[in-house]
Amino acid sequence: MKGVVLAGGSGTRLQPLTNITNKHLLPIFDRPMISWAIEAIVNAGITEIMLVTGGTHAGEFLRLLGNGHASGIDRLSYAYQDRPGGIAEALGLAERFVGDDPTLVMLADNIVENSIRPMVDNFLKDPVGARIILSKVDDPVHLKHLGVPRLDESGKVTEIVEKPSDPPSSFCVTGIYMYDPSVFQIIKTLEPSGRGELEITDVNNYFVNQGTMAYDILDGFWGDAGESIDAYWSVNDFVRFNSANK
Ligand code: TTP
Repeated sequence: MKGVVLAGGSGTRLQPLTNITNKHLLPIFDRPMISWAIEAIVNAGITEIMLVTGGTHAGEFLRLLGNGHASGIDRLSYAYQDRPGGIAEALGLAERFVGDDPTLVMLADNIVENSIRPMVDNFLKDPVGARIILSKVDDPVHLKHLGVPRLDESGKVTEIVEKPSDPPSSFCVTGIYMYDPSVFQIIKTLEPSGRGELEITDVNNYFVNQGTMAYDILDGFWGDAGESIDAYWSVNDFVRFNSANK
């Protein structure tokens, strides 16, 4: 399985910090944010990774990670996204790197308390279609800012609704996704959304409609450190006192 870590985007919600650096280089406790996502992927047993970034600080990722060996990566490749055209567009840049393998995608601003290895193992038992990782969110106001799955009585995902005014469940879709290689053909069929991006939710809903979307529910803390300055500090506090990727 290949890993793809996405560290492009604009990071507007963390301005002015992101006026002077890439969001994923900001510290989370004792290391740059992206190091936690890299550790999550490596701990899941994936040692061939592509890092996709963009903007004006791409070179700093090389200074941080180099050839990846010190982080436990066997082969680290880099791709440059010319403009923040969306998560799905960023993933599309990894097509040739991923080839015919299944892939784990992680947004570099996502932090998890516990290892994602069990979820990766679940996907690898039958690596067809897609598998997402859900997290329980108790605050209904928070859910309105996230991607929320609608579940039927049997627990199957029937739709993912982005930023719902009336959240259809109390789970959110985290920024950790697993796909079979057909994902790259699906990305090529996407049209930009109203905000001009190729949306990962459109990719995920394609698999939902095909009936090949599975999921796991995360145990323990999940945070998106890029959501707001408050979220950034909550994730910092959590990691400082509890660590991550346990
Ligand atoms: P977002 O948080 O949706 O977008 P953003 O990082 O541009 O932030 P903001 O909305 O505050 O401007 O993206 C989540 C992650 O996806 C982000 O951490 C990096 C990755 N990403 C890319 O790699 N390329 C992109 O074009 C976008 C939009 C995001």
